[in-house]
This record gives sequence, structure tokens and C-alpha cells, in this order.
Amino acid sequence: MCGIVAVTGYRKALPLLIDGLQKLEYRGYDSAGIAVINEDNNLICDKSEGKLKNLINKVSNKDISGYVGIGHTRWATHGKPIVKNAHPHLDSLGSIAVVQNGIIENFQELKSKLEKEGVDFKSDTDTEVIPHLIQKELNNLSKLNLENNGSTLLIAVRNVISDLEGAYALAVIWSGAPDSLVVARRQAPLIIGLGEGEFVCASDTPAIANFTKTILPMEDEEIGLLTPLGIELYDSENERQYRNPVSLKSSEQVVDKKNFRHYMHKEIYDQPEIAKNWVKKYLSKIDSNQYKINYAFDTNFLEGIERIQILACGTSRHASMVGSYLLEQFSGIPTNVFYASEFRYSPPPLLPNTLTIGVSQSGETADTLAALNMEIKRRKLTNKLELQPNLIAITNRLDSSMGRLVPNIIDISAGIEIGVAATKTFFGQLLSFYGLAIKFAQLRNSKSADEINNLILDLINLPPQLEELVSSHNKISEKLAHDFSDIKDVIFLGRGINYPIALEGALKLKEISYIHAAGYPAGEMKHGPIALLEKKVPVISIATPGKVFEKVISNAQEAKARDSYLIGIAPKCKGIEIFDFLLPLPAIDEWLSPLVAVIPLQLLSYHIAAHKGLDVDQPRNLAKSVTVE
Ligand code: AGP
Repeated sequence: MCGIVAVTGYRKALPLLIDGLQKLEYRGYDSAGIAVINEDNNLICDKSEGKLKNLINKVSNKDISGYVGIGHTRWATHGKPIVKNAHPHLDSLGSIAVVQNGIIENFQELKSKLEKEGVDFKSDTDTEVIPHLIQKELNNLSKLNLENNGSTLLIAVRNVISDLEGAYALAVIWSGAPDSLVVARRQAPLIIGLGEGEFVCASDTPAIANFTKTILPMEDEEIGLLTPLGIELYDSENERQYRNPVSLKSSEQVVDKKNFRHYMHKEIYDQPEIAKNWVKKYLSKIDSNQYKINYAFDTNFLEGIERIQILACGTSRHASMVGSYLLEQFSGIPTNVFYASEFRYSPPPLLPNTLTIGVSQSGETADTLAALNMEIKRRKLTNKLELQPNLIAITNRLDSSMGRLVPNIIDISAGIEIGVAATKTFFGQLLSFYGLAIKFAQLRNSKSADEINNLILDLINLPPQLEELVSSHNKISEKLAHDFSDIKDVIFLGRGINYPIALEGALKLKEISYIHAAGYPAGEMKHGPIALLEKKVPVISIATPGKVFEKVISNAQEAKARDSYLIGIAPKCKGIEIFDFLLPLPAIDEWLSPLVAVIPLQLLSYHIAAHKGLDVDQPRNLAKSVTVE
């Protein structure tokens, strides 16, 4: 989603801005732009549609030599992804430039007022109101004989943001204060990186990691003035804030693609290693046949937990649904999974001793953060001990807003994921839920020690099986992908623990190949979706031996009777003759089956999209961190 980088210091701004924007590319965007105050104190602004390399080509022959500047990658919300809507946006004098992430909800009202006053808008964006309003404020302040400097810009921006409704993170420069940068945030992340005699401010830590490891995450509603001499930070009451910077917790380095054509492909191949590292990090043997789950936080509070609610979106929600199955069926603890976006506006009644788990690979998803914040607030307001918030976050980004909001973090530790379609972080989220299910099963004695140990041993033995699975399925899927050239609809079926894997298979296919796909619990197909079935609608059915194997096979029969081409994801065993094509799984215990069943689905989606020549890593309209509601 949109990305912000802003710098002020002793080094030329442009290369730092471009480097920062390149580090934010993975988040997904459709246009990019920069603005710099040059050495003659003029504001220079350049923008381009499409990939960042278009902007780089545009600015590379120009001598843009200032030391303060702002940059942005835009993911369109208001107005099409075209140059005029790309950020930065300027005031009518071309002296103020603004980049913004978020949505200004009352922009229409502000825009109409400005238009009546004669302001000519150049874009369709909500953001453009901001530079015009700042210009108006600076005019008013000049009547008070305030000097042209950073402090005056700070006052002007503060006055303007008090009129803005919605969520935003913004950075502003003004040719009247050529070394100053003003930054502000409300419900959208912004982090200041502290160098020596220079500062960078960005919406996400990878843009900072090359520059410095010392950061100062801005708190909600703060505004700051950054000059090469230092930082002034103020809260919404205009109280100056003093606090110590912290160190980046993880390396946040964007890794290279190795020899893979796409990051997504590499990330699917990373999964066996992630399983190996998870075993090392989260499991330790306490005696000859007893293991414990290691967490970086004190887990005593889990003992009194009576129920769990999980808040997540998209793929993270699918991982949470597998988690919920494990927590209920293996650990015996009632668990509900909510779409974070729905929970925000229709939360269930408060129940005592509830553990709330936020799940987000990016840790920046606006809906999940808002749902978590709302839950924390409403529980605290009750003052009742049994209703107080008990929280865990499962995230891949320790230095994210979620990482800072929630005290107890389960680190997915999958390494930064670049492909917009989540694969390895989904896998890491699944592993996190296996750990939690084991922890709760041990606490509640919901399973015998042997059953718990068997699951642990299966997890320990999983990595080599995964290696074999990834490499064999890569070849099979590459071949099968050719058969999908003309396919417009695909149905995914699963039951029990693998129903969420059917949903995830359908989501992956939709996201990167733009083929319509839907996942259903296999038993539900006959209640409606069966009407869609015909020769040209393949059905992909996950059938792993266990509680519901025979049921899934019967449901697949129903599809076969309607002429659908049946693809089975199943081990080679009796019953699978029904499938027209088999994506074979190793014989594995049902509890563990989601961890293997998802791999052929990821690879098949990948190869279908790659075969179609699509932009696999940055599919159209999608973003890696969805920071708007
Ligand atoms: C995953 O492939 C998707 N791009 C999307 O559904 C994603 O899972 C969702 O936006 C939630 O993201 P999060 O895990 O960063 O919170």
C-alpha cells in the first residue's frame, strides 16, 4: 500500500529517497513521486505512473541537488492511478509539497470550501486539500509576522490536521523552510530513523534499515519537526514529547530473489527452512519424552483463559481458522475467528477470561489494528478484572504497529515476505497456531501426553518431507498449469481442518491469476454451488485420511457426476481413484495435513499465474500492507 519516505540532513536527498522507495516497493503501489527543496530553495517535484523505475528514469538526468525531500509510492484510493493523482501534491504556488498515507474522510467538504475561495485542484485525490490548507495557514501566520522557518511550518501543519477527519500519516516540506521536514500521524504508521546529523522518516521499517538501526516510532496523533539539528515532537495537546529511541528489533532486510523468477516462488521454497527454524526456536525437550513450547513472554496468564477470539483479515484469517480448529478440537478451548473489519462494528458481547489474538503478517493491517484497539479499550473501560484484555499477536514484523501495541508477541520468524500474495507467512502463522494448540493442550490436559508428543514429533519430522513435497510438486504444478489457460472458474473443496485450506487455495488463485475461484466446505456444495459445475469448472478437492475422508470423497463424487474435472490433493490411498488428476501428498497424520496440503495449492496458483505471464509478485489492485479501512 502507499509508502512514505522523507529525509533531511547533510546528504543529498534524492538518492536516499529512491533507495527508501525501492525498499517499500514490495508493499504494492501504482505510481510514485518525489519532491526536494534544491540548493536555490526551489521545490522540485517529479512523479510517474507505474513502476518506480519510470520515476528513476525521469529524475536520473536531472540535477536535483537538495538535502530535504519527500517520496511516495501510491496505491490508489481516491482517483485513478495516473500521474496527476500521484504524490507529492503541491499548493498553488508550488512551494509546499505533501505526501500522505491514509484517507481524509472530510476532504470533499474541505475541497468545496477551498474551491469556493478560488483554489484550482489539479488532482482527484483527498490529499491535495492538505497543501492548499497549509498555504492558507502560512498566509495567515505571515500576517502575524512569524518568520519563514520550520517552527512556522509546524504550526501551520498542526492547525490543518486539527481539521482533518480520518486516518493519515503525512510528510510536508516547504521552500520557505529549506532544511525542515514536518511529519504527523493518526492511526497510520510513521517511524523516525535517527542518523548522525540526518533523519529519515518512513511508513515502514525496511525504508529505514539501510540508513540507521535507531528508530523512534511516532505515537498516534503526534506531530514532529525534523531538521539536521534535531527533532521536536509534540502530542495532540501540543505538549513536547521526550523519549528514548529504540533499536530495530529485526534486520528488516529485503532479501534477493536468488535464482527464482519471482519472490513468491522463492518464498514457497523457503517453507521447509521455516519449519526447521520454528522447531529450533519454539520447541525444547525437557526430559526424555516431554517437550515445551518456548515463548518470549510470561505465559502464566494463559492458565485462566476460558475462550479465545481471533481477529484477522484475508490469508491471516484462513490461518486463524486452522488455528481455531486446533484450539477447539485438540486443546478443547472454545475459539471464534472474526473478520477484523466486521468485528470493529459488531463485536460480540464481552465475555470473561477471553484471550484475544491479533494475526497479521505485516502487523500494519488497519482493520486488524483498529479491531484490536477497540477491544482493548472496551475491556479496559469495564474495570472488571475478569473482563480485562488478555492479548497475543501473531506477526512477522516485530517492529510493526501490532508489534508495539500488543505485549505478547508470537514471532512468525519467516523473514520479510515480498510477494504480495502471502505464502510463507501463512505457513508460519499455521506453525504458530500448532505451538499455541500444544501449549493449551498441555495446560488443560485436553489430550494425553502421548497424543501431544505424537503431534510434536510429527512437527519435528516435517521439514524433510516438506522439502521433498515442494520440489516434486513444483514440476507437477508447472505441467498442470497449462490446462488452466482457458479456465474461468475453479471450485476448491475441503472439510474439517482443511476447509480453511480450500479457502486459502481459492484466494491464492484469485489474487495472482485473476481466475475466479471459491472455496467451500465440501458438504456445503450440494446446497447451492453445485449449480456452477460443468466440464469447464475444475474442482480441486482436499482429501486427507481422517475423520472426514470418506465424506470428502462422496462430495467429490457429486462433482464428478456433473462432469467436473476433478483434481485431488490426497495421499496415494484407497478412494482416490475417483480423481482425474492427483496432486499427491505424503501419508501424514490428519492434524498436520494443512501444513502439507497448502503447498500444492500455492505452487499450482503460482505456475498458473506465471504461465499467463502475470506480475506474480505485485498483482493488480493488491497491496502487501493494507493500511486503510
Ligand atoms: C494475502 O495473500 C493477501 N494479500 C491478504 O489477504 C492479506 O492476508 C490480508 O490483507 C491481511 O494482511 P496481514 O496478514 O498483513 O494482516
